[in-house]
Amino acid sequence: MNIALLGFGVVGGGIYELAKGRTDLTVSRVLVRRDIPEIASIATRDFNDILNDSTIDTVVEVMGGLHPAYEYVSAALQAKKNVVTANKALIAAYYTELTALAKENGVALRCTAAIGGGIPWLHNLERCKRLDTITEVGGIMNGTTNFIMDAMHTSPASFPVILKKAQELGYAEADPSADIDGDDIRRKLAISANIAFDAVLDEESIPTFGIRTVTDGDIATFQSHGFVCKMLATAQKCGETVCAFIEPTLVDAHDLEASVPANYNLISYTAEKIGRQSFFGQGAGRFPTASNVVQDCLDIIGGQTSFYTEDMAPAELEDAVAHPYYVRTACTDRWLESITVDCWDSGVITSAISSHEMIRWAKRHLSKDPTCFIAGIR
Ligand code: HSE
Repeated sequence: MNIALLGFGVVGGGIYELAKGRTDLTVSRVLVRRDIPEIASIATRDFNDILNDSTIDTVVEVMGGLHPAYEYVSAALQAKKNVVTANKALIAAYYTELTALAKENGVALRCTAAIGGGIPWLHNLERCKRLDTITEVGGIMNGTTNFIMDAMHTSPASFPVILKKAQELGYAEADPSADIDGDDIRRKLAISANIAFDAVLDEESIPTFGIRTVTDGDIATFQSHGFVCKMLATAQKCGETVCAFIEPTLVDAHDLEASVPANYNLISYTAEKIGRQSFFGQGAGRFPTASNVVQDCLDIIGGQTSFYTEDMAPAELEDAVAHPYYVRTACTDRWLESITVDCWDSGVITSAISSHEMIRWAKRHLSKDPTCFIAGIR
């Protein structure tokens, strides 16, 4: 396989390393904006050098962002080159269109590294679907929030102190909003649900509550009741519709999710015949992500031409799952009082409430009490 790499950042460099010395993969061009002595002989700043080179059969896109990644990937598919990408934003926004373009041109489009970094999640989701009906997907889909929640349980400190540590270690961005508010997870869940259920969900409508307002006091309370708090994503098939939500969740201290350490992910599907299967590993990073990209290339060499899902139709989001919640707020609220069944230190426990209703309420309530925190109880 003759590869052109678009981008030579952390992941691009990892791909180059993994391909070096192999006889079945050659990186023969790299689109890059800066001068890098190591690849000077194959570097170009002009995408047309790649597009017009008929010896290049596969474009590997690891530049990130929507534009010009979308234009480059579309042009590569139209030029009948396979595309492998690790770009989650691109896949979330254009999956259906790019899949159609790949089919039309008889080439492959693979994106296993786009969700879960080094975890072969989409690859296995696709394999499971060949033989079974998937009923649920989700789990711990973000390393930054898992690092923060894990540290708050194992070396108690306040949320701001641990967030700062996550930033120093390079897990959290300078603006950590996409991770801690759940937007990164929402995108991963939407793509996973699309593939698992052949359903196109409106990503923005998936109810999501982040961990920005969790306190060390909340964590101490959960631990005293035998719970561990994790940031979890859930999408369940409910007939023709899908119920999906993302929220801090109290799991039993003996559950699999409770023991996921540091910045690891644990992503699972449940299917009718096989039951639950879970995938544990690094959801980001140089070699984990590069490995999934190179595996996709090797799958294409091996004849893999399928598209994770062949047939997607728009699906409604349904408000079908109800469970009790822990709610902490400094403001009184009539609705909350009407559903309260117990008190835990500074918080209350509610009767079973639909996740859509509770997350909608909590987001509205933040304007009255910006310190409010909720966690579903599984
Ligand atoms: N920032 C993400 C995480 C990795 O912490 O898991 C990229 O999706």
